[in-house]
Amino acid sequence: MNETVIDCQNMETIYSKSLKRPILNGVNCQIRRGEFVVLLGLNGAGKSTLLRSLVGLVPVIKGNIRIDGVVMNSQTLPKIRRKIGMLFQGGGLIPQLSAVENVLCGRLGIRKPWETLFGFPQKDQYLAMELLQEMGLQEHSYQKTSLLSGGQQQRVAIARALIQSPQILLADEPITGLDVMAAKQVMETLLHLTELGITVVTVLHDLGMAMEYAQRAIVIDDGCIIYDGSPDNLPVQFAQLNQAVYK
Ligand SMILES: Nc1ncnc2c1ncn2[C@@H]1O[C@H](COP(=O)(O)OP(=O)(O)OP(=O)(O)O)[C@@H](O)[C@H]1O
Ligand SMILES: [Mg+2]
Repeated sequence: MNETVIDCQNMETIYSKSLKRPILNGVNCQIRRGEFVVLLGLNGAGKSTLLRSLVGLVPVIKGNIRIDGVVMNSQTLPKIRRKIGMLFQGGGLIPQLSAVENVLCGRLGIRKPWETLFGFPQKDQYLAMELLQEMGLQEHSYQKTSLLSGGQQQRVAIARALIQSPQILLADEPITGLDVMAAKQVMETLLHLTELGITVVTVLHDLGMAMEYAQRAIVIDDGCIIYDGSPDNLPVQFAQLNQAVYK
């Protein structure tokens, strides 16, 4: 369980050359297999940018990222992406498709185009139904996701990420807007995945949930990691951060 699966070395990222300075600046972090890490920070700090960099969606201009020992570059990116499931901020589901169709979309990166020409193979369909059942959503499998509650939609998004059998799950604000019970269900699902050996890195704004569920907290401020350690110290870290911003 001590193997490093995510390794960022002195990483700098930028969205466009016109920007005067990088969004992430000298990020160093090593995350091990099966760890449950929460990423916190104020709006605009760079949390989503860090997750997006880990799947190659933001150019890294300095330093490097290794996933499972492999340095990310244009050649290795397709293989690396197959190891990572991503839950985007806001869900990213296709509202007019059913839950099962959304989950099957997670297979698109794995299947060759001709394999899905006449629909997904039966094996994929069984797997999608099985995952929806695990998420407690079997009754909603054929419902359009726009008609599901926020918590149900998040669990469809988790099933969609899991259908590619990822080693790493990156979740950007998976519990924002959910009530406490729905949020706890999602957090427990994520915790369960770490028990299966999947590494989970999730952005949260809720210190209480971070302290209750995570093993490790990373706080980002203005593109830099300012804290990496036990979630128990988060209230102190945030008190200092708020003091610095709102003084
Ligand atoms: N596509 C983009 N092009 C240019 N700049 C961007 C882009 N996306 C984000 N940024 C900038 O990068 C910085 C970090 O944004 P990011 O979305 O990573 O913040 P965040 O920590 O996830 O914030 P939030 O809590 O609001 O989601 C912000 O200053 C933002 O304006
Ligand atoms: Mg964000």
